[in-house]
Amino acid sequence: MSMPVINSDQNEVYEDPLDLMNEIDELKKEKDASILAHFYVDGDIQDIADFTGDSLKLARDATQVKTSTIVFSGVHFMGESAKIMSPEKRVLIPDMLAGCSLAESCPAEQLAAFQEQLRSEGRTFDTVAYINTSAAVKSLCDWIVTSGNAQEIIERVPQDREVLFVPDQHLGRYLMEVSGRKMILWPGSCMVHEVFSIQDLIRAKRNTPGSVVIAHPECPQNILEITDFIGGTEKMRRHVMSIKEPTTFLVATESAMIHAFEKSAPQHTFVPVPGIMTSTGETCACNRCPHMARNTLQKVRDCLKNESPEIEWKDYFQKARDVLDRSLLQ
Ligand code: 13P
Repeated sequence: MSMPVINSDQNEVYEDPLDLMNEIDELKKEKDASILAHFYVDGDIQDIADFTGDSLKLARDATQVKTSTIVFSGVHFMGESAKIMSPEKRVLIPDMLAGCSLAESCPAEQLAAFQEQLRSEGRTFDTVAYINTSAAVKSLCDWIVTSGNAQEIIERVPQDREVLFVPDQHLGRYLMEVSGRKMILWPGSCMVHEVFSIQDLIRAKRNTPGSVVIAHPECPQNILEITDFIGGTEKMRRHVMSIKEPTTFLVATESAMIHAFEKSAPQHTFVPVPGIMTSTGETCACNRCPHMARNTLQKVRDCLKNESPEIEWKDYFQKARDVLDRSLLQ
């Protein structure tokens, strides 16, 4: 086994990724654990995971895991949702500080106050929350959606009720467009999907003849308007797999997604959108979610070894559980 060395640039200990992967494999057996990894975490973590996928698949996978422990490599709300749906399991996450700008944009007390205001105005509505929310917010809602099932769930809300959609205004606007259903939108947004420059994207498209723009519906309208294919992470992955002819895709989503695309459809070239037009002409993946990036192989190893940090069950999880089960499993 190679010796750890100090990485002076980042002031952290460097360890050989292959050693870490072996250690993680051993710990998984010893601790009776499975690893779930979202498409937005580093490729090396996706490679050692037992389950990879989008938010919808992983939420469902969490209920099928056979081991007594789940390590959820993603962000906090994902681990929390896994615990809510499988309370008997121990759910560990590599870094408790891996949050979500969307979840932060909708605090439970503010949502409760807004719902109260709407009710006092005599309005009858269902609250539909994107899964990128805290459990406290989920417990105030009628439905939970992911990018993978949002349209289907919105169609389940009776026509005589309004829809309050939280917290992503861009996903909400896109859903209004595709479903034809008017909704009250909460003004939240994802810090990653808001960074794409429309000007850079237009120039990149023009300078790369034949290229195809694929984007997540968390992107603002101006980006989606010049996008060729819009979809959540799994829908985009299936789309690139369905095209046999080698193609250059300009990718407007979190850059770690490119790892999953390259594995699933190696015939193509994938270019992250924001970095393509830097002054040097080099591509750079500056669209990295700082929360997802908190997941490292070291932290996966450490949380298995220390059995911490762990998502603890809270009383209000029960209400959130009913909503999650009804929305994602039925
Ligand atoms: P999906 O994987 O469901 O498309 O969601 C992306 C995301 O926002 C994860 O935080």
